[in-house]
Amino acid sequence: MRNLIVLGGGEDQIPAYREGRRLGYRVIGVDQRPDALGAAEADQFLCMTSRDPEGIARALGPIDVAAVISPASDAAQESVAELSRIYRTAHRTAPGALRCSVDKGYFREVIDRLGLPAYRYAQHNSVEELTRAAAELGYPLIVKPADSSGSKGITVLDGPANLVGAIEHAWKHSFSRQVILEELIEGRHGAVESFFADGRLAFMAVTDRIITGPPAMISLAHVVPADLDESAHARLSEAVTAICAEVGHRQGPVNFDLVLTPGGDLYFIEMGARLGGNGMPLMVRHAFGLNTVEAAIRLALGEPLTIDVTHRRTAALRILAAASDGVLTAVEGLDALKRIPEVADVQVFKAPGDHVRAYTQAGNKLGYLVMVSDTRKQLEDALDRALRTLRFEIEPDVKGSA
Ligand SMILES: Nc1ncnc2c1ncn2[C@@H]1O[C@H](COP(=O)(O)OP(=O)(O)O)[C@@H](O)[C@H]1O
Ligand SMILES: [Mg+2]
Repeated sequence: MRNLIVLGGGEDQIPAYREGRRLGYRVIGVDQRPDALGAAEADQFLCMTSRDPEGIARALGPIDVAAVISPASDAAQESVAELSRIYRTAHRTAPGALRCSVDKGYFREVIDRLGLPAYRYAQHNSVEELTRAAAELGYPLIVKPADSSGSKGITVLDGPANLVGAIEHAWKHSFSRQVILEELIEGRHGAVESFFADGRLAFMAVTDRIITGPPAMISLAHVVPADLDESAHARLSEAVTAICAEVGHRQGPVNFDLVLTPGGDLYFIEMGARLGGNGMPLMVRHAFGLNTVEAAIRLALGEPLTIDVTHRRTAALRILAAASDGVLTAVEGLDALKRIPEVADVQVFKAPGDHVRAYTQAGNKLGYLVMVSDTRKQLEDALDRALRTLRFEIEPDVKGSA
């Protein structure tokens, strides 16, 4: 039986474990957290960092690996590339697309080069240079690690008071120690989940994204299709096509974050040449009948791609989250929730007795709720009903414990 390596064992990688198994592969999962969801899902689980490809290959010994994949994780993409080289698998992500995924400053250069709506930024690894740049850029500013994801290490600053603290916070979540300062763009947040096949934009979903706002700036929900007019949609698909042509991304999934300003400008914030996180493939499957996880695995295996949309429905993915740190004592209303006709899928990653954390980081999710409907209004009403139906009972931590 041939092996499929999946780097990462979190909720956004689990669909690749299941899909890989369904396609007949022996799944090897890698995650440094011993309690990662992937530990129980893999045929073989390596408890080690996914950022050490040589170490992974050493631990696995002489085996036959058909493909390596890591949905949703930017941090793992360089390891995916290196392991794909070591095992001579059929597909490699284009180097320019890979670099965009792990270096936000490089992505900004690509945007500037293409003449797409751009904002001011500065990237560096020294406090002195960043302080000088911040004074030139002015405020508000968003300070981010150049190579992280899941909104880790991000601070929004209204003035210079906490700049050094924000840089140090970004460093904690950066491997490269490169920190990017960006002008903060005001507007509606959105995302693009797309798939290229043979150099062509074969699929593109645009979502409205609801975020928690500063300080965390993490996703709470996505709704598809985004509330965009036809011209904005056309501009977006042209821009996505131009970006991918520029970085040589001819095949495979690619995910973008964006902000749509009140004036109608579309600003790309970041790019990941991989499947999106936050349950994006799950939502795509329900909204469009397209299995992008299967497609991404087939691409990694070197098989021919068919990217077919079977229907178009209005869908929402809501991240289920806790309001405080504590112990989950009960999940109430799950059966009633599943009886709501618009509920297409509910996944809960935690069980009573587990310690849970407030939703201040993208990693602290309790689950995903996917809802499908025919109109946005009906979907939003049903989502309200669903969120009133499901309750997570949490015994909050006593201060100083846990
Ligand atoms: N320059 C910016 N202007 C406005 N919002 C931003 C900006 N940069 C980031 N954000 C918001 O913060 C989120 C996280 O930033 P992002 O660059 O996507 O980092 P990550 O790789 O951690 O997802 C974005 O999806 C967006 O909602
Ligand atoms: Mg992002």
